[in-house]
Amino acid sequence: MNKRFFVSILCTFFFATASMSAQTNSLAPTPPMGWSTWNHFHHDISDAVVRAQADAMVSSGMRDAGYVYVNIDGGWEGYRDAAGVLHPNSNFPDMKALADYVHSKGLKFGLYTGPGPKTCAGAVASYGYEEQDAKMFAAWGVDYLKYDLCSFREIMKQESGGNVQKSDAIMQAAYEKMHRDLLSTGRPIVYGMCQYGWGKVWTWGTQVGGNLWRTTGDISDNYGRMSSIGFREAGLSPYAGPNHWNDPDILEVGNGGMTTDEYRTHMSLWAILAAPLVAGNDLANMTPETKSILMNKEVIAVDQDPLGKQGDRAYAAGPLEVWTKPLQGGDVAVGLFNRTSAPTRMSLHLADIGWHGPVTARDLWSHRGIGVLDENYTVVVPQHGVVMLRLSKINP
Ligand code: GAL
Repeated sequence: MNKRFFVSILCTFFFATASMSAQTNSLAPTPPMGWSTWNHFHHDISDAVVRAQADAMVSSGMRDAGYVYVNIDGGWEGYRDAAGVLHPNSNFPDMKALADYVHSKGLKFGLYTGPGPKTCAGAVASYGYEEQDAKMFAAWGVDYLKYDLCSFREIMKQESGGNVQKSDAIMQAAYEKMHRDLLSTGRPIVYGMCQYGWGKVWTWGTQVGGNLWRTTGDISDNYGRMSSIGFREAGLSPYAGPNHWNDPDILEVGNGGMTTDEYRTHMSLWAILAAPLVAGNDLANMTPETKSILMNKEVIAVDQDPLGKQGDRAYAAGPLEVWTKPLQGGDVAVGLFNRTSAPTRMSLHLADIGWHGPVTARDLWSHRGIGVLDENYTVVVPQHGVVMLRLSKINP
């Protein structure tokens, strides 16, 4: 081969790889699934709690249903020593041993820190020590990092002098820095950005290496908050896809603050949104209803569909909303959501979702085929509830 040609190919390869190095990795072809300490245990966590939840993840069937990440959220941090080494608090005597235990169960291990000097709870975070922390996380065996903005907001304010564009650029650089530091450890680590949707993160999250990014503030275990977060995702579908997902936050299913119909709405909406499915309840104490919701294989299959398309609102009549998600092979998932506080008749008009009959339909909560639909399907949807269908063309 001509030497100049060879050098030019080499340069092209080098620059192409260098300019792509801030791009998202390929560790999350479908939305990550797992469990997090945060929604149920908050700061009341320890090595023993995490081991018991990992055990329950296996014995309950959650792991086999696809939930594999065991994510320790805020509350594990201890102090940073004179050499800059970050130590867990005394509830976590040996993080590497804990990660090994989680791995021995066929699960993956997630951890939490942030770009500021402090986490939201005032514990030590990674500001100024990003590279050192990334190396240590990799050495412990971390597979997933949640990076929470928290006190970095103060730094953005100070360094930008209040200029919004500057402040956004500082935030983006901080997220990109940790991405690069994780990358240079050589360990595959899913990168979860948590900055509550600031600066329309969905428009730039992939450019700084995010595999997922929170789109809103925190969820809480009540229908009002869950539904306002979930339905507010309308319009964000163009920004998600394989390895880069919008994250409307950890699931509350099983925490006790919502009815079974409301939790079904929560799970259905998250699946249609192709949201990360990270359970946030006590896996060692699940009612049969909670299990049937979190481990509904047909709903999980909608979330995890390999086409990787986020669904969106197709149409709405006030609080009666119809959402759709295109699936691989030409099927479509449909959610008929009744946001009112009374059972209400709702109609699916195939033409309004760009389909026409005849199609076969399956109800993903009753697990029954409901026959062939021609143009419309009318059904009573419970208050705050959902009817979730999967439609297939008869002659695709
Ligand atoms: C919040 C974050 C929550 C949780 C919490 C821990 O900022 O949004 O998901 O991580 O911090 O303190």
